[in-house]
Amino acid sequence: MNAVGRLHHLEDLEPSTEEFRQSVVAGLSTRQKTLPCKFFYDVEGSRLFDQICDLPEYYPTRTECGILEDKAGEIAAALGPQARIVELGSGAGIKIRLLLAALDRPAAYVPVDISREHMVAAATDLSRTFPDLRITPVCADYTKPFALPAVPGITPRVTSGFFPGSTIGNLTPTEAVSFLGRMRRLLGPDSAMVIGVDMPKERSVLEAAYDDAAGVTAAFNLNLLHRINRELGADFEIAGFAHRAYWNEEQSRIEMHLVSLARQTVRVGDRQFAFDADETIHTENSYKYSIEDFRALAVRAGYRPDEVWTDRQALFSVHLLRATEPA
Ligand code: AVI
Repeated sequence: MNAVGRLHHLEDLEPSTEEFRQSVVAGLSTRQKTLPCKFFYDVEGSRLFDQICDLPEYYPTRTECGILEDKAGEIAAALGPQARIVELGSGAGIKIRLLLAALDRPAAYVPVDISREHMVAAATDLSRTFPDLRITPVCADYTKPFALPAVPGITPRVTSGFFPGSTIGNLTPTEAVSFLGRMRRLLGPDSAMVIGVDMPKERSVLEAAYDDAAGVTAAFNLNLLHRINRELGADFEIAGFAHRAYWNEEQSRIEMHLVSLARQTVRVGDRQFAFDADETIHTENSYKYSIEDFRALAVRAGYRPDEVWTDRQALFSVHLLRATEPA
């Protein structure tokens, strides 16, 4: 049986190369050049991101895993039996194991991820640990509309989103409100959301987490240019760009940029883009929220904030939200 054969169904909405090309051309055509961070995650980018998660400087993953290890029982009890879990951006699928192991007879698991190969491998692996669990992956960009797959014969008592890793921080606050509102409508009127949210802290800790000594985050950022070269036939000179990450305290966000080290011109297909020396491409924001600020944001999206769990140092938080408004 092949990898997909073990799973119950694979919904495939992976973004096309044409969508990628249009986003790159649009992003490089604005005054502050930008590239959407969702395109970091090709096979190589996903591999580098998994490495980032194990870096000593990158505290979010181990801190959130620690919270989930300690509190999975409380989270599972709050969700109740026979829950259907919809994980947004499932990646390597490590955190979901902690939650699934604590849940009482979970009804189904729906991983949703943009990177098909990575997700299918992780879901196949998971099906070996949880052989009775219905797993119905959806390959989709979860920032765009998609439908939940029907699973005949399964009636979940509750549907909960699971959005760990503080990926919500990669959206602007306005985008985060509309994204959460959309998820609430997708998951249904009595749904819940378990969501990991990184918190503001000392600049030195934050900046080290996004500019590690081993240079893995730099490689992750620069891989976007490799990907554009590979998939869109562009001619970025990778050595002509450098990784830059800094804490923008006023906006409560880490910003990642790719800095042009010289005046240069880059071709993407039949388009040319001119760069000044020190001009940047803004590739990612990673917003950090205090508990109060995130709860206020959730209310704007039609959720009632319920419990929240943090680590002892208050580096990271895991929120349970309940849908309040009709779907
Ligand atoms: C996926 N996301 C939550 C990561 C973050 O921390 O914003 C992406 C990342 N970028 C650099 N390092 C990690």
